[in-house]
Amino acid sequence: MSEQRYDEETGQYTTGHTYDGLEELNTPLPRWWLWTFYATIIWGIGYTIAYPAWPLISGATQGVLGYSSRAVVAEDIVEHEAQNAALVEELTGTELASIDPASDLHRYAVARGGAVFRAQCSQCHGSGAAGVQAAGYPNLLDNAWLWGGTVDEIAYTVEFGIRNDNPDSRYSEMPAYGDIFTSDQIAGLVEYVQALPQGTGGEAAELFADNCAACHGEQGEGMPEIGAPNIADAIWLYGGDAAAITETITNARFGVMPAWGERLSDADVRAVSIYVHSLGGGE
Ligand code: HEC
Ligand code: HEC
Repeated sequence: MSEQRYDEETGQYTTGHTYDGLEELNTPLPRWWLWTFYATIIWGIGYTIAYPAWPLISGATQGVLGYSSRAVVAEDIVEHEAQNAALVEELTGTELASIDPASDLHRYAVARGGAVFRAQCSQCHGSGAAGVQAAGYPNLLDNAWLWGGTVDEIAYTVEFGIRNDNPDSRYSEMPAYGDIFTSDQIAGLVEYVQALPQGTGGEAAELFADNCAACHGEQGEGMPEIGAPNIADAIWLYGGDAAAITETITNARFGVMPAWGERLSDADVRAVSIYVHSLGGGE
């Protein structure tokens, strides 16, 4: 046993322990520090009693105050909806085409629609709505519309989607010509399509007029009623190089979009349609 003693040389207390000639000093924690430390322990125990804290097998202790961050969020949402109730009612009760782009309602719809777009649409159409090149996800910023670019046409596309199970879905189906034409005929058609709106002459012109013009138009200008793209412009859904066009003609494509009316509220469908229409390419 060794005892605390005062070391006159250094002017400090030591515990009396020495290890290999090193002395262990006795420097107690400052009182204020110690009390703060005890206070945090007491506060911590109180917190775990008051608030949800200890993990259990399913869930956690609830805490005597009954606090839940989820309930707080739900309350915030209800409050937010209540604040906007008048605008939401106006949004769902007004003809889309008649909404003045300078109005508060339009501003609200664009803000709300932008949030919906970022959450629901950007994974396919890109965060800036520029589409995903050559993957069949169209650019929604430009003036080229597969199914029409008025706000009502956009809203229909969004609500019912494209080539899905919804009975009101937009629908059309380009045939796969791989079994119908020889590879030479397909190669001729590819050249013909790349040369549109003039096209090339010869057999390809005849094949095009007989098989393709009914959907894509005589000059390849497209037909929005059936979602047949303009194939005479420089905008391609699946790519304009020979390989991509050969693939389209041989196997067809069949691009699918979900029916958002089944998943989103009426207000959200309308808001996101107004948002898309406002991006610049709206007709
Ligand atoms: C799973 C992928 C996917 C998601 C998510 C998606 N889309 Fe689409 N969308 C497509 C595809 C594919 C097409 C083109 C289909 C075709 O070939 O006709 C399309 C087409 C469209 C068109 C028609 C464009 C035109 O030129 O006529 C609009 C408008 C549109 N989407 C809006 C939206 C909105 C708004 C959302 C979010 C609520 C959304 N999309 C979410 C895949 C998606
Ligand atoms: C029944 C209507 C229909 C017929 C007939 C048809 N197409 Fe299509 N075509 C479409 C549709 C709809 C698309 C959009 C792609 C999809 O199916 O999702 C398309 C897409 C294309 C594309 C891709 C365009 C792009 O932007 O990437 C090319 C190229 C094309 N067709 C060429 C042809 C040629 C050549 C023929 C004739 C041999 C033909 N199509 C016949 C409806 C048709």
